[in-house]
Amino acid sequence: MLPPQPPPAPDSPDFSPLAIGEDLSPLPAYKAAGTAEIGFDGLLAEPLRLREDLASGCGGQTWPAGMVLGRHMLRYHREDLREARILELGAGGGLVGLAVARGCAVGTTPLFVTDQLEMHSLMEHNIALNNLEGKVQAAILNWGEPLPAAVVALKPNVVLAADCVYFEPAFPLLLATLSDLLTLCPEATIYFCFKKRRRADMQFLKKAQKMFKVTEVVDDERPVFCREGLFLYTFQAST
Ligand SMILES: C[S@@+](CC[C@H](N)C(=O)[O-])C[C@H]1O[C@@H](n2cnc3c(N)ncnc32)[C@H](O)[C@@H]1O
Repeated sequence: MLPPQPPPAPDSPDFSPLAIGEDLSPLPAYKAAGTAEIGFDGLLAEPLRLREDLASGCGGQTWPAGMVLGRHMLRYHREDLREARILELGAGGGLVGLAVARGCAVGTTPLFVTDQLEMHSLMEHNIALNNLEGKVQAAILNWGEPLPAAVVALKPNVVLAADCVYFEPAFPLLLATLSDLLTLCPEATIYFCFKKRRRADMQFLKKAQKMFKVTEVVDDERPVFCREGLFLYTFQAST
């Protein structure tokens, strides 16, 4: 008979999402429409004002991975994005892209926040609400479809994607777009943050690991957001 096994050390959680338990987390609770002030825990001197309205779709409210990715970019990429050509996928109301445009030193190339047609007016509204018209542009980018001409012209080398893993039928479409972006600009880095809610979400990650070079990102907050089932990776073209 095997001797009794010691319990796992409480201070050494397994950080691999592929090994996370079977517990399923719910989608965020429904929020009434309104305008929120989001300062990312003081990382933005002037908080973002963000209209949240689920009438246009689920991206009409802020999601947890967007908060984590926003904080990560503001903590670790304030000064290294001057030459970057930045694109956000599945931006919803534009949370992460607007935070980067406001809080990071970015160059003169407009940052693109993209989503489906339904979200376009909300993205435009939030760009104007934060006086970021000169720095941020809203565009429609449907995953799985050919990249829009403006995106091809931009050739983004920094791609932001937060909480885009939540709807299984869209997984192949999202993977196709990520692959197209890395083909367009093979030196690009995709910052990819997601929350594990269902077992299927891990299938997305496994497929991504087969297609791209996937690296877990260093972040002091990682033990905290990991405990909430949130994971932050970079995806790059496989060499
Ligand atoms: C869960 S929301 C995340 C919003 C925002 N990134 C955040 O973290 O708060 C996912 C976003 O992906 C967008 N989306 C879903 N399917 C899409 C598709 N096929 N093409 C483009 N965007 C899509 C939705 O419209 C939605 O805004």
